[in-house]
Amino acid sequence: MTGKTIALTTFLLILFFACTSKQEADNAAKNSPTPSDLAEKQPEVHGTAIQTVELTNPLNKEWVTAGQGIYDSKCLACHKLTDEKLVGPGWSGVTKKREPTWILNMITNVEMMLEKDPEAQKLLEQCLVRMPNQNITQEEARKILEFMRKNDGEK
Ligand code: HEC
Repeated sequence: MTGKTIALTTFLLILFFACTSKQEADNAAKNSPTPSDLAEKQPEVHGTAIQTVELTNPLNKEWVTAGQGIYDSKCLACHKLTDEKLVGPGWSGVTKKREPTWILNMITNVEMMLEKDPEAQKLLEQCLVRMPNQNITQEEARKILEFMRKNDGEK
């Protein structure tokens, strides 16, 4: 798992260097990028931070199913649906204790959150593993959120 994280971080660093202009790259080479530089770059790569989300009642069943599919393939290795911790925290109750936009940003923009958000940083202190960026689009993240709401007992 750690190897995977390192590989991913390396990949993101390569991406970062690949995307900067020559001059920026020269500067970066002189004083290597701080995590906050990387976080500033993040919005360009994965879309800007999500500010609003509309929650439907009742739940969108198709999104719940699609969200579960994404969970099974990309999240299940680290997250249980109970409150039990695996690599990351269990998802039970997450939609009750977090704002929906917070959850969406954690899913789509985890580097930014770990850099800037105190709650995300607390989780990192507890889990000691940085959640890797799973390259989830905003639409996919919205479906995962619907699945989480279902998991928390919403109809
Ligand atoms: C390699 C393990 C790993 C994978 C895979 C992973 N996560 Fe995480 N996740 C974590 C860790 C660890 C944390 C705690 C924050 C940290 O340490 O970076 C976390 C935190 C979270 C949180 C905040 C939970 C809370 O209690 O507030 C959400 C939401 C989340 N992850 C969603 C996802 C989604 C959605 C996926 C799949 C698309 C996913 N994660 C895949 C490891 C993982």
